[in-house]
Amino acid sequence: MDFQKSLRRNFAVRRIRRGVAVLAITTGAVLTGCSIARQYFAPNITSEHITEVRYLDQGWTREDRELFYSTPQGTELQGLHYQWLSALELPFSEETLASAENLRGWGFIVDGENLSRENSTGLHPVGMGKHVNTEDNSERLDLGCALCHTGELHYKGTALRVDGGQAIQGISTSGPGEFIVTLNAAAIETLVNPKKWARFADRIAGDNAAARNQLRQDLTRYVGEVWDFSQGPGQPKLFPTTEGRGRTDAVGRIGNVVFGYNLNIEENYKVANAPVSYPFLWDIWRFDWVQYTGFTNQAMARNVGESLGVMAPVKLVDDDGQLLPEGEFGQSTIDVEGMQCIETTLRKLKPPKWPEDILGEIDIARARQGKGLFADQCAHCHGPHISKPYVWPLASGPEDNPSNQRSTNWQWDMAGQVSYDEENRPVREDWRESMWSVPWIDIAVIGTDPTAARNYMDHTYDAGPLLPQVSEGDADSRLVNAGNGLQLLLNELVPVLYKSRGISSDGNGIADYDGLNVPFRIVNKPAYKARPLHGVWATPPFLHNGSVPSIYDLLSPLEARPVRFGVGHREYNPQKLGYVTDLLPGNFEFDTAQTGNSNSGHLFTDTDIAGRIGKRLSEGERMALIEYLKVMGNPDFSDALGSDPQNWNQYPAAPANTLGELACDRFRPGAANVLAQEERPQ
Ligand code: HEC
Ligand code: HEC
Repeated sequence: MDFQKSLRRNFAVRRIRRGVAVLAITTGAVLTGCSIARQYFAPNITSEHITEVRYLDQGWTREDRELFYSTPQGTELQGLHYQWLSALELPFSEETLASAENLRGWGFIVDGENLSRENSTGLHPVGMGKHVNTEDNSERLDLGCALCHTGELHYKGTALRVDGGQAIQGISTSGPGEFIVTLNAAAIETLVNPKKWARFADRIAGDNAAARNQLRQDLTRYVGEVWDFSQGPGQPKLFPTTEGRGRTDAVGRIGNVVFGYNLNIEENYKVANAPVSYPFLWDIWRFDWVQYTGFTNQAMARNVGESLGVMAPVKLVDDDGQLLPEGEFGQSTIDVEGMQCIETTLRKLKPPKWPEDILGEIDIARARQGKGLFADQCAHCHGPHISKPYVWPLASGPEDNPSNQRSTNWQWDMAGQVSYDEENRPVREDWRESMWSVPWIDIAVIGTDPTAARNYMDHTYDAGPLLPQVSEGDADSRLVNAGNGLQLLLNELVPVLYKSRGISSDGNGIADYDGLNVPFRIVNKPAYKARPLHGVWATPPFLHNGSVPSIYDLLSPLEARPVRFGVGHREYNPQKLGYVTDLLPGNFEFDTAQTGNSNSGHLFTDTDIAGRIGKRLSEGERMALIEYLKVMGNPDFSDALGSDPQNWNQYPAAPANTLGELACDRFRPGAANVLAQEERPQ
C-alpha cells in the first residue's frame, strides 16, 4: 500500500539531511554578503502611528482580557522557544526582529493598557503566550486564540481595540519580508553567521558553555522542523492563492497538518486555496453550529481540531503508521484547561460599542430608518433566531448512531450529563438557557465564493489508521472529508486529553468541558451560515473570504465593489464601515479574480443573477442600514431608536461556570506557572 510505504519514512534522518542543505545555501548567501538577500528579507511592514488605545466597553474586566490575550492552548511554532522571538535580529542586520514597530507593521497587536508582554523576555504581541514543553522543560512560544481573534481599528491616531474581533496579521503568508519568512531567515542566519550567533547566544545563554551548546542544538532542531514543515503541510504549491493579511485557509491547513503531517500520509496533502477571514467571537457560545460552513457544534472538539491545525505537537502514529497504543496515543502539549478557561472568558464578551466621540455621532433618524430596513431585508437570515435549548440524542452503545454520524464515541456521549426523553432514549440537554440557531444558506443561493465550502465537502483524505477495520485494499472507503476525518480522530483524542488532565464525568467535568453539555457532532453542507450581526461594523473586511472591504461595498451592486484593493492598514473609514483600501507599503493587494477570492454573491439588485438575495438598495437605504448597524443591539441606543428588537441586553447570560473559572486559576496574572506579573511602564 502506498500509504503504508509513505509512513515508513524516517523523520529524523530526513530532517537533518534537509536542514543541512538549507544551512549550506544560506551560508553561501551570507558569505557573498548578498545585498539582494538583505533587500529580500527587509520587513514588509505597514507604518502606523498611534497615540492612544481605547477599549470598546465589551463587558470584560482587565483580567478577562489578560486571560484571553495570554492563556496558552498548547500550539507551537515548530518548537520556537518563547525567549528567542525577542532575542533574534533581523536577517542581515543587527536590528531587533520583534521590535514594536515591526510587530505592529506585520499586523500584530503589541500596545495598549500596558498589556503588551514587555518583560525580561522581551516584547510579545497579543496572542503570543507561552507554555512549557515537558519533553525538555523549555518554554515554547504558544500561538493563542487572541492572535487571530483580536482586532484593532485605527482612527486619526486612536487605536480602538476590538476584543474577540478579526486580526489583520498575516502569519500564514510566506512572501518576501513577511513575518514567518523573516523569522526563519533570521534563525538560519543566526546558526551560520558566527557574529550573529555570538550576540544571540549572549542574550539567551550568557557565557555558560553548556547552555550555549544546548541552545545551538535547539535552534538547529527548530530549523530542521521549519524545513520539514516547508516540505510537508507548508509546501508552497499547496497555497496557490496567497492568504495575505487577515486570512488563513483554516480548514485546509488543519486537513494538511492532521491527515498529512500528523498521520504521516503524503497523499493527504491537498491544495488549500480558500483563505478565510478570522471571524469575530462575541456571542459565539450562543450559536448552535459554528465555522463558516457551520460544520460542528462543540467548542472543545472544535478547539482541539484548531490547535492541531496551528501545529500543537501530538503523537498519533508510530513509524509504521499504526495508531500508538494507549498511554502513548495523544501525548500532546494541547491544553484543554487553557481552552476551557478561554471559552469561559469568551462567554462574558459583548459586542463592541460604537464610540461616538471618536468615530462620529449617530444620526438617529437615519438609524431608525435602517432598523426598519434591517427587519425587512436582513433579519430573516441574520436573526438572531432564538431557540430553546436543544435536546441532543446520544449514542448509548457501540452500535447506536442516532444522528447518523460518520463516527460516534458512545462512551464519550454518555459521559456528559445524561437524561432520558419521553421514549426513554438517552439525551443531553444543552445547558444554555436559550440558543441562536444559525441558518445554513446554500452556496447556490448566497452566491459568494464557493471554494471554501466546496473544498470542505469535496476534499477527501485517507483516514488510514483511524479506520483500522477497513482493509487496506479498500482504499476508497477510507476516504473522508475534513469534518468526518476530524470526527474519527477527535472521538479518540479528546477523551484521552481529558483523562490526562483528570477530567471525568464526576461533578459533570466532561459535560462542562464539552461546552455546555453538547455531544460532538458534524454536519456536511455546501453552505455558509448567516450569523447575527451585532458589532459587525468593527470587523472588516467582510464575507468569509474577506473579499469585500466595507459594509457599504457589500450593500452595493456587484459592479460597484472594488476588484483589487489593499489589506493590512488599520485606518478605519467610519462612513463605509471598513478599512481604507489604498495600496500603501506593507499592504497585501487583494485580487478578487483569483480562485477563492471572488467578491460575488450576497447581492441586492433588481437584475436576476446568481447570488441575488434582495432588491436593489438605494444610496439612502444603504446609508440608513449602515447607521443602524453601527448601534444595532447596543442598549445605550435602544430608547433613541424607539426600542430595538436586537437589544443585546435581552439575551440571557451564560450559565455560571465554576469549573471554567477554576481552569483559569492556573493562568491568572500572578499565578505561578504563567508569566510573572511584569513591570508595566506606560
Ligand atoms: C491561526 C489563527 C487562529 C487561531 C490561533 C484560532 N483561530 Fe479560531 N478561527 C480562525 C479562523 C480562520 C476561523 C474560521 C475557520 C472556518 O470556519 O473556515 C476560526 C473559527 C473559529 C470559531 C468559529 C467562528 C464562527 O463564526 O463560527 C471559533 C468559535 C473560534 N475560531 C474560536 C477559537 C478559539 C477559542 C481559539 C483558541 C482556543 C481559536 N479560535 C484559535 C483562526 C484562528
Ligand atoms: C438570504 C439570506 C441573507 C440575507 C437576506 C442577508 N444576508 Fe447577510 N449574509 C448571509 C450569509 C449566508 C452571509 C455569509 C456569506 C459568506 O461569508 O460568504 C452573510 C454575510 C453578511 C455580512 C458579512 C459578515 C462578516 O462577518 O463578514 C454582512 C455585514 C451582512 N451579511 C449584512 C447583511 C445585511 C445588512 C442584510 C440586509 C440588507 C443582509 N445581510 C441580508 C445571508 C443573508
